[in-house]
Amino acid sequence: MSSLARIGVAIDEDLLEKFDALIGRRGYTNRSEAFRDLIRDELVQESWKEPDAIVAGSLTLVYDHHVRMLSDKLLDIQHDHHETILSTMHVHMDHDNCLEVLALKGPAGRVQQLANSLLATKGVKHGKLTLTSPGKDL
Ligand code: NI
Repeated sequence: MSSLARIGVAIDEDLLEKFDALIGRRGYTNRSEAFRDLIRDELVQESWKEPDAIVAGSLTLVYDHHVRMLSDKLLDIQHDHHETILSTMHVHMDHDNCLEVLALKGPAGRVQQLANSLLATKGVKHGKLTLTSPGKDL
């Protein structure tokens, strides 16, 4: 970790009040940590725009495994991207529905392409890609 630098920030009182209320609801005990997290979040989001930047993430899918050939299609896509998928978890939610969570790491473009392919597969009811950073540069 690099050494700490101190900065002064001029901010509207109204805005600061709203910020304090927000970070209070989120469980922060001091502003500095909240500011640092906001800055990191912006930097991480910026890095996703670079297709070759290495990102980490999780993709959550909900689907009905009775839909014809759906499980096979989802598996084929995953095997085509095996180098991007670190781990998968499959949960049988009820008689029909499956929940799948994939842990991903790789170039941002490739991770997003994989997520789009799986989410766009007919029969997938809902899903969400959450991107983050592998953490090294934060
Ligand atoms: Ni299942």
